[in-house]
Amino acid sequence: MASLTDDLQQLLRDFTQKLDGAETEQSVRKAYADYGGANGAIRARQKELLKAAPNAEKKAIGQATNEVLQKVDAAFAAALKRLGDAAAAKDLERTVDVTLPGRAHRLGHLHPITLARREIEAIFSQLGFTVAVGPQVETDFHNFEALAMPKDHPARDMQDTFYVDGSPDVVLRTHTSPVQIRTMLAQKPPVRIIVPGTVYRRDDDATHSPMFNQVEGLCVDEGITFADLKGVLLHFARRFFGEKIGVRLRPSFFPFTEPSAEVDFTCVFCGGSGCRTCKGTGWIEIGGSGMVDPEVFRYVGYDSERYSGFAFGWGIDRMAMLKYGVDNITAFFEGDVRFARQFK
Ligand code: FA5
Repeated sequence: MASLTDDLQQLLRDFTQKLDGAETEQSVRKAYADYGGANGAIRARQKELLKAAPNAEKKAIGQATNEVLQKVDAAFAAALKRLGDAAAAKDLERTVDVTLPGRAHRLGHLHPITLARREIEAIFSQLGFTVAVGPQVETDFHNFEALAMPKDHPARDMQDTFYVDGSPDVVLRTHTSPVQIRTMLAQKPPVRIIVPGTVYRRDDDATHSPMFNQVEGLCVDEGITFADLKGVLLHFARRFFGEKIGVRLRPSFFPFTEPSAEVDFTCVFCGGSGCRTCKGTGWIEIGGSGMVDPEVFRYVGYDSERYSGFAFGWGIDRMAMLKYGVDNITAFFEGDVRFARQFK
């Protein structure tokens, strides 16, 4: 009898050994099923013992088996607790400093050119101008021809042009002036539009970029004079740059305006005394302007005896350079977030 129940004790020892080596709950449960479960090794051994033993010994075998099974249950519960305690201790080891302040998410914001464009639009919309747009890939007719610049006109050289697919008739627009033509072809006077948009030229230095932005203005009605142009220009300059900004009009030439004037604003980098950015002049050229040439009215079918108008085309990037004190135009297009972050 003693030697028979020894077998059960041996199975118990095997079971506890398995538990000691178990590192996961899954392996603990498997060991329990293998030894203490209904189909486990201990029940199987009990059945063999009962079969072989005389009746007088059967009760004792039953008791011995139950004692072993109780020990198996206790060892199983202890092993599960050991694993649970170890997992909880590991959790506590994780160092989370709940007193640290949270990390703020950076908010996006608008690019300085967009900020400048929106402000320009707001100022002109208060004067009764609406915003018009046109294509960046333009026909030679709209970009040059209808603006009184036929193919052999020398003024074309001033606007180093990108041609599209080598076609002499399709260009990346060199200015926003073609939208004057598109608008006048589509509607009768009175016209009061501004046209902010991207334009392209083969140009590259501190104040010239191959891709830049202009804002065109066009006002056509009966009785429009150069004084209206000057009044609008001064009003705009003071609203955009502040009352102290210096503005000057320089006689100039554009094939599509007559008379024409170049518009300069005081250089903010040197306050007008002359520096590298303004090439020593104290002024920064912002754009061209003038009275719409009757030749242009002829192209679009407007009666130049009845209507007159002024137009202007200014560089938005140049205006943003002055407004925000940026002395190199390339900073706007390089995509350096440290630069962009300054204009919240
Ligand atoms: C024109 O483009 C005319 N269409 C302006 C105009 C419109 C005159 C209506 C009369 C009536 P201009 O080539 O000067 O003109 O360019 C106008 C302005 O665009 C310049 O004064 C300058 O501020 C800006 N600009 C020109 N080229 C560049 C460039 N490569 N990079 C950045 N800004 C430029």
